[in-house]
Amino acid sequence: MNAKGIILKYIDFFERRGHKLIPNSPLVPENDPTTLFTSAGMQPLIPYLLGEPHPQGRRLVNVQNCFRSQDIDEVGDNRHTTFFRMLGNWSLGDPARNASQCEAGGYFKREEIGWLWEFLTRELRLPKDKLYITVFAGDGNVPYDKESEEIWKEVLSKDPSINSGQAEKRIFAGDVTKNWWSRSGIPDNMPKGEVGGPDTEVYFKFDDIDHSDKCDGDDPTKCECGKFLEIANSVFIEYQKTDDGFSQLPQKNVDFGGGLERLLAAVEGKSDIFESSIFSPIISVIEQSIGIKYSEFEKDFRIIADHMRAGVMLANSGVTPSNKEQGYILRRLLRRSLDSWNALGGKDLTLVIETIASECSKTDPEISGNFERIKNTILEEEGNYKKAVEGGKKLIEKELEREGKKTGGEIRGKVEISADLAFKSLASFGLGPTQLRSLGYEFNEQELAEKIKQHQEVSKKGADKKFAGGLADQSEQTIKGHTATHLLHKAIRDMLGSQVHQKGSNITAERVRFDFNWDDKLTDGQIKQLEEVVNKKIDENLPVFYKFMSTPDAKKIGAIGLFDEKYEGEVKIYMIGSEDPDKAYSIEFCGGPHVAWTREVKSFKIIKQENLGRGLRRLYAVVG
Ligand code: ALA
Repeated sequence: MNAKGIILKYIDFFERRGHKLIPNSPLVPENDPTTLFTSAGMQPLIPYLLGEPHPQGRRLVNVQNCFRSQDIDEVGDNRHTTFFRMLGNWSLGDPARNASQCEAGGYFKREEIGWLWEFLTRELRLPKDKLYITVFAGDGNVPYDKESEEIWKEVLSKDPSINSGQAEKRIFAGDVTKNWWSRSGIPDNMPKGEVGGPDTEVYFKFDDIDHSDKCDGDDPTKCECGKFLEIANSVFIEYQKTDDGFSQLPQKNVDFGGGLERLLAAVEGKSDIFESSIFSPIISVIEQSIGIKYSEFEKDFRIIADHMRAGVMLANSGVTPSNKEQGYILRRLLRRSLDSWNALGGKDLTLVIETIASECSKTDPEISGNFERIKNTILEEEGNYKKAVEGGKKLIEKELEREGKKTGGEIRGKVEISADLAFKSLASFGLGPTQLRSLGYEFNEQELAEKIKQHQEVSKKGADKKFAGGLADQSEQTIKGHTATHLLHKAIRDMLGSQVHQKGSNITAERVRFDFNWDDKLTDGQIKQLEEVVNKKIDENLPVFYKFMSTPDAKKIGAIGLFDEKYEGEVKIYMIGSEDPDKAYSIEFCGGPHVAWTREVKSFKIIKQENLGRGLRRLYAVVG
């Protein structure tokens, strides 16, 4: 049975049980600015999980294309992918007390667990002795899911192939990190209003993988090595996050998700999903194109296969590489995959792209019509990346020359560079650690990883804010305006003196307003100078960081801004250019959010100045 066969069986199985097939939603959600990608089948169904009636009724089934950018760094092992197809079935509340009397009504744990077992063991014919179950162990807010445990015991012990007394040995309980599901993970990470609940998961045990030192036994919740592969997840969405815990949703929902790639790996008995029939044609064409074996460079092959496949699917959805939002993720994926491709000596990518597109079109036929556009998007980015690498090399050589060190051009072998310089080349030209290493540069990996991580925190902060939605204006233009204000504040003080301070600001999507203490009208020359300095800092594409610290510590490192002197808690300090206070261009007290890189601001222009009296002036400016 291939991937298509699993899809057909699944839909048929649930249609026979009163479910209506709903379409695969776009990978880039329409009209939903709170999230970049569709990452689970339930995402387009949120209003209905909250109680809105669905036009197709209470039982739904589909196959959803999903992309999870948070898994990019996990790719390389035997089981993680960024793009995947999720089989999903849902019950939207109203548990039918008697399924036969209420054919198309909702259902809950009993029906869901019984049907799931039937589907996995009868339809997919997975060997029963390889299937293991987990349920929610409970935490402060939500109790142990005894009900699911009891249902599983009944279902398993009724199965003639499972010896009496064996059922208990297949069921394990996991904490919130394992058996709780929401789009934002554990309860503490859920924003107010987000829905979630305890889940019960099915794992497939692969005998050909030996546990690593860190895991042991048959408890899937204690295994991190891939011996146990999660193939099915039934979430009982009955909670909504509130200010101080959870409230019960007006209805109890079932949200089932099963990754097609993983189910296929279990059906085909491949403990490495990249050896299953979805990926094996892609792995073979990479082997042929480069002339080396998958078994020798598994990690690089997996990164190329997954990221290029996700790249094809994102390009198919109309995403083009850029420095923001979906485009930035596509750029990161393609460049990471190109790092591995180049490191292995890959040359022409065309055949790989063709093979991926042809494999993916088996389930997404519209790809065939979009093929030329998809191919050009990827090959153009390959060209842009080459240019960026040249730029990065020049930047590093120039810096090394300035420091009086020998450069890569003059010596053979490795060249040591600082983590700062490595980060700068990443910030300005997108050169990742793998690329830097393949160019012959050595650096403190941990220090660089720290810098990247810290910087990602800033980007994530922006994304979290976005996710939270909320009342404040957090449009892209406003965030750019915030960062421009910090640059302007610093430029004004450098020009007029450190007695000058910001006295207020107001930022909308249309313009930035900035007040400061100064008596005289700024001359045209001064206005021009401010614009030039701010635009220069934008072009330098400086990274933006933040830290939490006490007010005295913030003052000590020279942070400026509208502090509340009496405030005793920790304050948030944004630094532009470096997280080292001695090297940062601007250090300012601020709640954020900000852009992650100054180039995102694009441009800055002062459009007006006003005299507010009392020694105060006001500037209006627009950003690009
Ligand atoms: N929404 C659940 C998941 O994504 C089913 O795992």
